[in-house]
Amino acid sequence: MIHWTDKERTFMKEALRLARRGWGLVSPNPLVGAVIVRKGKIVSTGWHSGPGLPHAEAAALAAAGKRQTVGAELYVNLEPCRHTGRTGPCTDLIVAAGIEKVYYSIPDPNPQARGGAQALEDAGVETRRGLLAREAYDLNQFFVKWQFTRRPFVILKTAASLDGKIATRAGDSRWISSKVARNYSHHLRAGVDAILIGRATAAKDDPELSARPWGRRKMHREPMRCVLDPGLRLPASLKLFDPSYGGPTVSFCAPDAPPAAVAELSAAGVRVIHIPWDGRGRLSLGKVLEALGELEVQSVLIEPGATLAASALLDEGVADLVHVFIAPMFLGGQDAPSMLGGAGVEKLTDARGAEILRIARKGPDIHFVVRPQGAFTPPPGFLDLPEDGPSGHLEEEG
Ligand SMILES: NC(=O)c1ccc[n+]([C@@H]2O[C@H](COP(=O)([O-])OP(=O)(O)OC[C@H]3O[C@@H](n4cnc5c(N)ncnc54)[C@H](OP(=O)(O)O)[C@@H]3O)[C@@H](O)[C@H]2O)c1
Repeated sequence: MIHWTDKERTFMKEALRLARRGWGLVSPNPLVGAVIVRKGKIVSTGWHSGPGLPHAEAAALAAAGKRQTVGAELYVNLEPCRHTGRTGPCTDLIVAAGIEKVYYSIPDPNPQARGGAQALEDAGVETRRGLLAREAYDLNQFFVKWQFTRRPFVILKTAASLDGKIATRAGDSRWISSKVARNYSHHLRAGVDAILIGRATAAKDDPELSARPWGRRKMHREPMRCVLDPGLRLPASLKLFDPSYGGPTVSFCAPDAPPAAVAELSAAGVRVIHIPWDGRGRLSLGKVLEALGELEVQSVLIEPGATLAASALLDEGVADLVHVFIAPMFLGGQDAPSMLGGAGVEKLTDARGAEILRIARKGPDIHFVVRPQGAFTPPPGFLDLPEDGPSGHLEEEG
């Protein structure tokens, strides 16, 4: 078991804090922060702010200047790359700068970029892996899952009353959650590559599907807006199809969707993708994710009605993380939709289990972050670092 000092942890925490600044800016690249330390003091920092822009290590090295980097330590939350992509290899810069020791949290899962630590060792730079590995993995799970599976990481987000209803019996659902909870949802939207909804939600709520977190209106990229509309029955007048509201729109339809509707939507700039049925009369979510992965979508936020939630969580089990906001109200009604529709399971032993990762308050609401059974986990060996403990800690915020 590796023992990390408090100082080492503090420096890597700072690298992780810097990495978070790239939320919503860096995809398809990872979130990375770097800190250069000399004689126990931080001399410079850097973070990656988007594709084609300097990597965190390069930014930190440039900010320090050569006099400060000789014999210094570098803390970075991802193994430095040794490949030439849109920018050059970070390992060359680190060696040229005279860095003596590199701490990194997790290996680079990208087959083209990995091997940086070995290249550094070969050049005489000491490397130490695994510092705050769990936190670093949690931060970059979109990137890691896509690198290993070529499918996006799936977050499902829903808001319900205390009695589990997502709308009233008349279909009124705006708003169940508080402003603070909705702002958090916009923060999630700002950080993902795509948002996915079902046809009924699009028709009833006419959402923009844009990301509007407080104070960040123009900083992030707008996520791709996706809808499951098997027969392409949604009217073209919906905000979802209007480019002035948000990112590009993708409509997933059935193999036999009317060709005239396909042509009309395509002419309006909507990408139409045909998806096979799942055997239960719905579009296959597995195939939807495959198609999104091919478009280099690394993360998708599903904002489901009861029908889509049941498909995603129970029938196909595609969710990797679930955010549930519970609002302090009771709605009742046999016919008011609950969080999950569909047929449901018959026996308790058939339930999909879940692990609660976090419970917090969002204004008057309670926010659960849950990892359902069947969620993505990285392959053995990638995170076999027991010293940082499991991320499934239960945290209660005041
Ligand atoms: N409180 C919340 O967090 C929240 C969030 C979102 C929505 N809502 C509310 O939920 C209600 C709508 O929910 P809903 O259950 O009626 O519908 P939904 O989940 O929004 O959409 C379901 C429809 O999507 C299409 N679809 C295609 N493939 C699918 C698949 N694999 N799985 C599921 N659906 C697929 C089907 O359209 P076809 O019928 O054409 O086959 C299906 O009927 C609205 O009242 C909305 O306001 C609440």
